[in-house]
Amino acid sequence: MKNGPCWLDDAGKPIQAHGGMIARFGDKWYWYGENKDGPTLRGSAVGHRVDVVGVSCYSSSDLVNWHYEGLALKPEPGDAAHPLHPSKIVERPKVLYCEKTGKYVMWFHSDSPDYWSACAGCAVSDTPQGPFHFLYATQPNRRDCRDINVYQDPVTQKAYVIHSGDWNHTLYFSELDDDYTGFTGNCFAQLAEQTREGGSLCRHDGLYYCVSSGCTGWNPNPTLYAVTRHLTTPMVLVDNPCEGPRYRTTFDGQSTYIFEADGVFYLMLDHWKPENLKESGYSILPIDFSDGRMTVRWQPEFNGLIRADR
Ligand code: GAL
Repeated sequence: MKNGPCWLDDAGKPIQAHGGMIARFGDKWYWYGENKDGPTLRGSAVGHRVDVVGVSCYSSSDLVNWHYEGLALKPEPGDAAHPLHPSKIVERPKVLYCEKTGKYVMWFHSDSPDYWSACAGCAVSDTPQGPFHFLYATQPNRRDCRDINVYQDPVTQKAYVIHSGDWNHTLYFSELDDDYTGFTGNCFAQLAEQTREGGSLCRHDGLYYCVSSGCTGWNPNPTLYAVTRHLTTPMVLVDNPCEGPRYRTTFDGQSTYIFEADGVFYLMLDHWKPENLKESGYSILPIDFSDGRMTVRWQPEFNGLIRADR
């Protein structure tokens, strides 16, 4: 797959899974993301948008050939007040498997068309491909919530919704309860006044690494990474981890998720096309770690898993 453009599924159709994530459930990989297969509406107060089509799910055994499983979360066109109504915002869907309940739990950025309601939406399913049933949308711990992600801490096993709050000034970690469908009330702030979004986490060799973008809407900007030894203590911003052409604009992309496969971490990027959002592309880039530093080198192609000892 050529990194940068939109990828095709096994039926030759453009993959509609923007702002997404890849996770392994059972013997398959699943890719969830925003289905933007509709016209890009221009000129709204908050810029270009596509009405909510739903959250797509794709499956794969090799991360290269993707099969469309359908809409894991469907819109609610009949109810103008519903958070899944096409006029609303459904962005950056992420899915966790909850061991305790045996359910798959989806969290996503749920918002009004003007981005003022700033909530996290929650939906559950018995199977990875859905259908996910919408539960509710809320502001975690009464804080505004825009770009979101999820993270399961491999050390404490606690799970978090990570979200940009305080009008994107701060990155919040809101701890999920045992069912992953509610919040415990424990919440901590990171990167205060750094105005970051697209926050994505991984842990390597005793350090947590947080990759994030700046806040420039659909336009690319430099990625920065931050590190901490303990998730709840302040992270330290280090530098731009990108190397290669267009490294100052994250190769013209924006972070959405980090997944691990066979001991290698991969950064997923969206390459937004604001004029026609459904044509937005993707990249998957391996992350290198050395002496507490992280590097993401541009690779023209992603052809599936690479060896950890490369
Ligand atoms: C970006 C954000 C996207 C989307 C976009 C809308 O900053 O990362 O998920 O919300 O703004 O302009």
